[in-house]
Amino acid sequence: MSAPPTKSENRGVASPRRARIAERTLRTDRWWQAPLLTVLGLAAFVIYASIRSWVRTAYFAEEYHYLTPFYSPCLSDSCVPGSSDFGTPLGELPMIIPLGFLVLPFLLGFRLTCYYYRKAYYRSIWLSPPACAVAEPHRTYSGETRLPLIVQNVHRYFFYVAVVVSLINTYDAIRAFHGADGGFGIGLGTLILVGNVILLWAYTVSCHSCRHVVGGRLTHFSKHPVRYWLWTQVSKLNARHMQLAWTTLATLMITDFYVMLVSSGTLSDLRLVN
Ligand code: FES
Repeated sequence: MSAPPTKSENRGVASPRRARIAERTLRTDRWWQAPLLTVLGLAAFVIYASIRSWVRTAYFAEEYHYLTPFYSPCLSDSCVPGSSDFGTPLGELPMIIPLGFLVLPFLLGFRLTCYYYRKAYYRSIWLSPPACAVAEPHRTYSGETRLPLIVQNVHRYFFYVAVVVSLINTYDAIRAFHGADGGFGIGLGTLILVGNVILLWAYTVSCHSCRHVVGGRLTHFSKHPVRYWLWTQVSKLNARHMQLAWTTLATLMITDFYVMLVSSGTLSDLRLVN
């Protein structure tokens, strides 16, 4: 007589309620394509952002006051002159520490704990499961009830910090209305920074935690018409959260890349005013 199945043998793909088939999946379409593209897209962003955050060059175009979002706010004496509008309380930072180190962990935390990104990397990287009707490699499943995944519940706090960061990026975009003579001016860089910050706000406001903040825990929407209206607007944006998640990854890289080209002198900013 064989030993009774252990707890892990009774769960997940080994559950007695699952069909006993040898194949991992019976799907014949390209189910692997979406997870693969997700991995490539996320990897491209992580590699690009990591390199740019550590190089400490070409992140601020002083003439037009273009500061890349990867270095904002720049709060150290190591920042180039003119890029530290909020002061330099941190003193000199060793080369090993990115100049935007205060904000980067929060931005990373906000994205990593985002409901959309969770879906993306749980499927694409953790393969849990990689696609509908494709068995995952793991034998057990504990969801987000234990460490480390229980930490995902702090997402709402990252949302609050993301609002502050978006305000700082808004300030940077306003500062980019800067002419070469020190007065008012508009260049292609200004438009890129403004476009980026509008999309960042759209991504931040479309967050599920924001939706809960504005409309959660209400028993009667009819008694809270303003919050109901806000909740309705956030819900519309929330339906586009995935698209905004990807678009803002792209606009962050485009904004940084453009600032790099202008500040390094590789490209002259296309000026529309002054
Ligand atoms: Fe995606 Fe909050 S759910 S940022």
